[in-house]
Amino acid sequence: MNLFDAIHTRRTIKEFTDQPVPDDLLHQALDAGRWAQNHRMTEPWRFLILGPQTQQAIAVINGDALLQKTRADAGMLAKMRADAETKILSKPRIVAVTCCLCGNKAVEQEDYAAVCCAVQNIQLAAWGLGLGMQWSTSGFSTRPDTYALLGVDPVQEMIAGLLYFGFPAVVPDPKPRKPLADVSRTLP
Ligand SMILES: Cc1cc2nc3c(=O)[nH]c(=O)nc-3n(C[C@H](O)[C@H](O)[C@H](O)COP(=O)(O)O)c2cc1C
Repeated sequence: MNLFDAIHTRRTIKEFTDQPVPDDLLHQALDAGRWAQNHRMTEPWRFLILGPQTQQAIAVINGDALLQKTRADAGMLAKMRADAETKILSKPRIVAVTCCLCGNKAVEQEDYAAVCCAVQNIQLAAWGLGLGMQWSTSGFSTRPDTYALLGVDPVQEMIAGLLYFGFPAVVPDPKPRKPLADVSRTLP
């Protein structure tokens, strides 16, 4: 796929087919993340590829998180929990991305930026391989129980998000962007 085609056609994919994601495709996409630009070459990204047991546990955390912020009757709560769990279980493959924390705020800001560049590389590479991806920063993904489940020490690393991978069932229309003229200015 041509680079500009990839940039322009890439979409956030939320609905996937049931087709499993082959490991080699997933690894190729994640490997593209390692090639992101990175000031000081700190290589701050870490990729945690979830197996079925961990995905099931994440689904339960998503249900817990939803219920904690909801007031409804017991029947409704049970349905909401089931829907929240099904949503996570419907993602063919999940990868958590973390950013190493070095304790220096300025470097941590650059490192987080580098992790974002890595995620963009990954999503574009996945797209080129026919895979869709959604980057999720839903509240449940950074709860203490999610850190504990994934074995991430919040002093050493921050969870930058969960990446949901799969073959696209639905490719949404692009969301409109402001024209370049509205978001740029040329200085003398
Ligand atoms: C840092 C970051 C976090 C995001 N978190 C979410 C999320 O939690 N849920 C979601 O539906 N989309 C999330 N997105 C995807 C955006 O909603 C999406 O990129 C935007 O709607 C534009 O659509 P497009 O990616 O198809 O161009 C996130 C994107 C970024 C960059």
